[in-house]
Amino acid sequence: MKAKIKLDRDYEVGAVDPRIYGSFIEHLGRAVYGGIYEPGHPTADEMGFRRDVIELVRKLGVPVVRYPGGNFVSGYNWEDGIGPKDKRPVRTELAWGTLETNQVGIDEFQEWAKRANTEVMMAVNLGTRGPAEAKDLIEYCNHPGGTYWSDRRIANGFKDPFNIKLWCLGNEMDGPWQMCAKTADEYGRVANEAAKMLKWVDPSIETVACGSSGSGMPTFGTWEATMLSHCYENVDYVSCHTYYNNHAHDTATFLANNLDMDYFINSVVSAIDYAKVVAHSHKQVNISFDEWNVWYHCNEDPNRKHIERWSIAPPQLEDVYNFEDALLIGSLLITLLRHADRVKVACMAQLVNVIAPIMTRNGGGAWAQTIFYPYMHASMYGRGTALVTKVDCDKYDTRHYKDVPYVDSVAVVNEEKGELTVFAVNKNLTDDIVTTIDLGGFEDYNFVEHITMHHDDVNAVNTEENPYFIHPQSNGVTKVDGRLAESLLGKASWNVIRFKK
Ligand code: AHR
Repeated sequence: MKAKIKLDRDYEVGAVDPRIYGSFIEHLGRAVYGGIYEPGHPTADEMGFRRDVIELVRKLGVPVVRYPGGNFVSGYNWEDGIGPKDKRPVRTELAWGTLETNQVGIDEFQEWAKRANTEVMMAVNLGTRGPAEAKDLIEYCNHPGGTYWSDRRIANGFKDPFNIKLWCLGNEMDGPWQMCAKTADEYGRVANEAAKMLKWVDPSIETVACGSSGSGMPTFGTWEATMLSHCYENVDYVSCHTYYNNHAHDTATFLANNLDMDYFINSVVSAIDYAKVVAHSHKQVNISFDEWNVWYHCNEDPNRKHIERWSIAPPQLEDVYNFEDALLIGSLLITLLRHADRVKVACMAQLVNVIAPIMTRNGGGAWAQTIFYPYMHASMYGRGTALVTKVDCDKYDTRHYKDVPYVDSVAVVNEEKGELTVFAVNKNLTDDIVTTIDLGGFEDYNFVEHITMHHDDVNAVNTEENPYFIHPQSNGVTKVDGRLAESLLGKASWNVIRFKK
């Protein structure tokens, strides 16, 4: 099979905001306790953070981590997680039916973020609480001192403000599963007041309003337009959330799910721009795709243990990712890059143990799941300016999608570093695709390496015992002749083709 990919400097989408390589840590399952934090673990530092996990997070190059939820945040009292640990209350946690010990809160998390080379993206509780408590939180985090909450922070040992720049106005407030879910009108009003108060305390911050919890919600579209009619001027981003599954065990359909993400982004862009017109605004609101991933394996696991209600940090949502998941993650990253003009923040959900690229065992090892690698490659080589590629290839139909191109691709040029990278997925499960890449405008770039990731078994996984069973290799075949490169995109493969000036 053959294909053509054409690059051109004129095919520029926009500057890639590095925050699209963000992630997410919720107080859920073993994400915090047993994930990033495990005092007594052989690699734990003086604050109880696992150094082995920090090392893996640093490898990913995660610029921002959303915290502390998720559904959790809609019942969270942030004050429970500050000050002396022995005074912190244990609470029932209604989102996931567990007990929250509050041994980690914002005091600790911002310390962890420094160690992991990342920034905090803070979510406030607009479920059981409201704008007043959100205002207290930002005063605690960002105000220099001389006020009740900023002085409490200083008394707790943190003289310098945390300077958190990105604030989520609640989480999935349209979802009936959410504590104190709201209608679009109710939410839009509260989000507006919260955004105003947060920005009055610190005008340098940006805010994210909750979009629909998914494009399948019955109110999708009207939710965005209605809630934005109340808060357009005070928000900077609208959130999108999506999780894909292969319950049907239909790999061809599963791998085509990035077409759904494409539809989702285009639709939310339309809703935002409609709200902009109605608001007679000159301000541009963009998208924060702050939850995206594959999520379903844990529900199918026959060995899944029953979790007692009110247990502490039980193993919840621990998906073990296989090779086909890594391929879809590659295509989803390509899709986010193709929308670099409007998607400015994105968070793979989540980071450790809970539907995550990094897994740990309590008291044991930490390892990279299959989905770790495309995420790491995009974060490493996908910074600069995104260019759409013109792809000429065969297409296929599935039960749910029509005209799915076998080849997904995007290019990113980093003028500062003199680097050009083509990311490509071959979704054909049986055929290699010999692909001609027309490097139009980039003839002065030389081939560096062609990284590939493939496994004959799409269900193969990495485990603690065999952590590198699936891993990328720099063994792809690319030959360059003038402005044309010929790359072999192996059947069912993730490809990173790198050039340098
Ligand atoms: O990431 C897991 C959960 O998925 C989050 O708590 C929630 O926001 C979403 O429904």
